[in-house]
Amino acid sequence: MNAVELIKKKRDGKAFSTDEISFLINHYTTGHIPDYQFSALLMAILLKGMTVSETAALTNSMLISGKIINLSSLKGNKVDKHSTGGVGDKTSLIIAPIVASAGIYVPMISGRGLGHTGGTLDKLESIPGFRTDLSLSESKKVLKKCGSVLIGQTKEIAPADKLIYSLRDVTATVESIPLITASIMSKKLAEGIDGLVLDIKTGSGAFMKSQKDSIRLTNSLIQTAKSFNKKVIAFITDMNQPLGNYIGNWLEVYESIRVLNGKIKNDLYALAIKLAGAMIYLGKKAKSLQEGECIAKQKIESGEAFKKFLEIVNLQGGNVNYIINPEKYPRSRFVKKVHSVKNGFIYEMNTYQIGMVSLELGAGRRTKDDVIDHKAGIILYKKIGDDVKNGDIICELRSDSNSKITLAEQMIIESLKFSKTKPSIPKLIKKVIK
Ligand code: URA
Repeated sequence: MNAVELIKKKRDGKAFSTDEISFLINHYTTGHIPDYQFSALLMAILLKGMTVSETAALTNSMLISGKIINLSSLKGNKVDKHSTGGVGDKTSLIIAPIVASAGIYVPMISGRGLGHTGGTLDKLESIPGFRTDLSLSESKKVLKKCGSVLIGQTKEIAPADKLIYSLRDVTATVESIPLITASIMSKKLAEGIDGLVLDIKTGSGAFMKSQKDSIRLTNSLIQTAKSFNKKVIAFITDMNQPLGNYIGNWLEVYESIRVLNGKIKNDLYALAIKLAGAMIYLGKKAKSLQEGECIAKQKIESGEAFKKFLEIVNLQGGNVNYIINPEKYPRSRFVKKVHSVKNGFIYEMNTYQIGMVSLELGAGRRTKDDVIDHKAGIILYKKIGDDVKNGDIICELRSDSNSKITLAEQMIIESLKFSKTKPSIPKLIKKVIK
């Protein structure tokens, strides 16, 4: 086998054998295939695609490039959720404690924000002291003690993905369904889970803008999960407006606390209940999705989910005083309320642009090395379908930089479109696929 012949094979639209895929991944990760050849290979995969069995073989080669966490000593089911990410998507912070308090292990490996989307790790790190860099043995201890642990991808987890993802990022090969599938699934399978709930976002703030592409990705992820004998349920959900009303790292922790405390029951609450319900069902603590949702609601009503969140924060080194008294958290130097200059119903929110406003305020990263301001972000007072009068407050912007606020105000006004008649509100759950 040699790299040139294999690049030619994919260029000509032929399928690789399992051994060929294993050769390519092993030789790339050990430095025997250079970046320029692997880039050509990635482009050929993007253009010609991969079969279901090639995608599964690619996933497996990337998975075994690192460690698979062995959780067999923990008795009980282990279930996780993966979201393709969006703006204001903080469901992991709510779901992990709900599901753990229902007696299911939730080992969660999450990512950081980049560009217009936020990342669970950055949100958690806005809690002073919270450590997302636990070693695998520390993580296992936390998981055993409280039923959930929320960490970042360690060097030991799917190192091939880390290398390949960096190359895809600079070779315009991110948008390939088999490459995305193998990247996501290699990391999720390394967690040692029995089941996985997928939240595939679709719309202006999503990675996949069209529902057609979201369904293609979902089917690919489901087929791959099933080929590893994992139970899986996927939800295709709306990202044509931000999820919830708070965007920005600490602001999103704050909104999650309010949901966990039973204080708000908005779209964020509704989606968290759906996803947590599905995880409880996959974890065999409910006989149906509906029963799973009822249990998830009870865990919030009883206060058990909030108590579990405090336990997780405490075990991962976070200062629980800020979770108990979130109003004590430091505020941004500048807070600006944005008023509407129009009358009408909001019918469109450019969610990508709203994510970029949050980044502009200091809450996000343009490049992987940017430092983020945990306090910065947006509080939305209005969403799609709301009747807005001239002068009404649309949102609040928070930043330590006044010049950033001025630019952000202009951007947020431009991201909204108004109509004279009440528009239909985008359906939150577009499709459920098992
Ligand atoms: N998220 C991942 O982890 N990998 C991809 O390729 C895309 C999104």
